[in-house]
Amino acid sequence: MEAIVDYDIVSIDEFDALTSTATKYPAREHAKKAGKQLGVKSGLVYLPGEGVSQWEDSDMGPPFRQRRFFYYMSGANFPGCAVTYDIGADNLTLWIPYTPPSLVLWFGTTPTPDECLAKSDLNNVKYIADLPKYLNSTLEEAGSLFVLRAEQIPKSLGLGLLKPSIKIDTSALLPAMTEARVVKSHYEVSMIRRANDISSAAHRAVCEGFRRYANECEVEAAFLQGCVAENAHMQSYPVIAGSGPNAATLHYDANDEPLADRQLLVLDAGAEWQCYASDITRTLPIGGRFTKEGRAIHDVVTRMQDECIGMIAPGTGFRDMHLHAHRVATEELLKLGILRGGGGGSRVKKTVAEVVEEVLATGLSSAFFPHGLGHHVGLEVHDVAGKQRLMSTVSPWTVGSTGGSRKNKRDMILREDLVHMMKSSANAAAGDASFGSTAAAAAQVLGRPLEPGMVVTVEPGIYFCREYIEAYYLSKPELARYIDTEVLGRYWSVGGVRIEDCILVTEDGYENLTTAPKGEEMLKIINGK
Ligand code: GLY
Ligand code: MN
Ligand code: MN
Repeated sequence: MEAIVDYDIVSIDEFDALTSTATKYPAREHAKKAGKQLGVKSGLVYLPGEGVSQWEDSDMGPPFRQRRFFYYMSGANFPGCAVTYDIGADNLTLWIPYTPPSLVLWFGTTPTPDECLAKSDLNNVKYIADLPKYLNSTLEEAGSLFVLRAEQIPKSLGLGLLKPSIKIDTSALLPAMTEARVVKSHYEVSMIRRANDISSAAHRAVCEGFRRYANECEVEAAFLQGCVAENAHMQSYPVIAGSGPNAATLHYDANDEPLADRQLLVLDAGAEWQCYASDITRTLPIGGRFTKEGRAIHDVVTRMQDECIGMIAPGTGFRDMHLHAHRVATEELLKLGILRGGGGGSRVKKTVAEVVEEVLATGLSSAFFPHGLGHHVGLEVHDVAGKQRLMSTVSPWTVGSTGGSRKNKRDMILREDLVHMMKSSANAAAGDASFGSTAAAAAQVLGRPLEPGMVVTVEPGIYFCREYIEAYYLSKPELARYIDTEVLGRYWSVGGVRIEDCILVTEDGYENLTTAPKGEEMLKIINGK
C-alpha cells in the first residue's frame, strides 16, 4: 500500500528520511563514530574551532579556514566556536559566540542557535560564555576530558581546581578521529561529489577557452571563474597550471608563463564545497593537437589510470594499484625506447616479458613516476589516513629512529622505496612468515585495503624533470644504462602528464566522482567540435 504523506505536517527531519536526502550536517553521526573509536563509555570530548587571525604588522589576515576536526563534529563554519561531546550522555553541544551589533556593522552577523540547529544535527547550541561552567560541572560526572593535543586544553578549565580523579587525555582523540574520518558518511560523499561537479565544470570551461589562452595565468583565471561563479570561493589547494617544463614540477603554482612553443599544460585544480575537497588533473595539448611524443606519453598515463581505477573494489590494496601503475609505465616506456634492458652480460637474448621483469625490478620507472598513486580526499585534499596508510612503505632506507616510515602524499617515492615495495609485496604474496603472523602486521607493511565509503584519488603521471632525472639516475652508470638518452632527448620538451580523478569505493566496485572531460572528449571540446 502506498504511504500517504501530508507534507504540510512533516517535519524537516522526517522529510529527509522520506527523500533520503541528507540536508543537515551529520555531526552526531560523526561524534558517535569518533566516540566508538575512542572505545570508552564515558568522557567529554572538547574541540575548539578556529578564530580570526591577522598577518604580522597588518590589520588584514588570511581567509577564514575552519579547523577540520572541529568541523567534522559540528558542521559550524564560522569563527570563535567550540564543540563538546559528552560520550556517556551522547550529548553534542555547539558553543557559539555572541556577536554584538558593533561587530555586525563591520563583519556581518554570525548564525543564531536556531540557525545552527537547522543546519547541523546537534543536541544543543549554547553561547560560549557559558562553556567554562559547563566544562567544570560536566567533567565531575564524565571523569575524563579528551582533547586533540595539550595546546587545546581549554584555558578556562582552572586546572589547579580540578579534582585529582579527573583525567585529561591528550593522545587518544587524534587517532580516534582520524580513523573515524577515513570512511565517509553519505553526507560527506555528497559534498565531495558537489566539489567535483563544480570543479569538473570549471575544467570543461577551461577546455572550451583553452585555444584562446596565451599564458598560464589565463588558465588559472578561467578555472577560478568557473568555481567562484558557483559560489565555491575556496580552492582545495593552489591551482597548478604548468606548461612545458613546468608540467614536470609536481606542485608548481607560479602560473605566470607564456604557452607559446610549448606542448602540454598540466591543470591540477579542485574547489572546495562546504569544507570538502576535490582534486582533479587534466593534461591539455597546447594548440589543440598532441605532438607524437606528447600523445604517446598521454596514452601511457591514460592506460596507467584506466587500469588502476579498474582495480578499485573493497579489499583491493592501494599499494598493489601503485605497483601495477609502475608495471604499466615500465612496459610502455620500454616500448617507446626510453627505457631499455641493461644487457646484464648474458648472451642469451631475453624475451620482451623478461626485459620487463628485469627493468621493473630495478625500480627505474620511479625516475618518471616519482610520487604516490593517490591519497584520501575529504575535509583535506590529502585527507587523514587513520590507523594505517594506503601505501605504508616501511623500508630500510626510510626507517627513522621511531622505527617506521610514514610516507605522505608530498614525499617522493624513491627508487629504493619502490624496489622494497615490490619485494615485500611479492614476499607477502608468497606467504613469507617475516610479515608477521597477523593480518595487522602484514598490513603495517603492505598498506591498507580499500573499504566502501573511502574516497581516493588515482593520479598517475609521467614526468621529464631534467634536473631530477639527471641528478639521481643519469649520473649513476648502473642506472643510466637502462635509459636510452638519445630517445629520452626527444621527450624533455613534453614536460609531464598527470591525470587525476576522485574515486568513491562502493560495495561492489567504485564510482568515479570526477566528470571533467578527458581523452577524446577533452580534445573535441578544446577544438570546439
Ligand atoms: N593537487 C595535489 C595532489 O594532486 O595531490
Ligand atoms: Mn591528488
Ligand atoms: Mn591534484
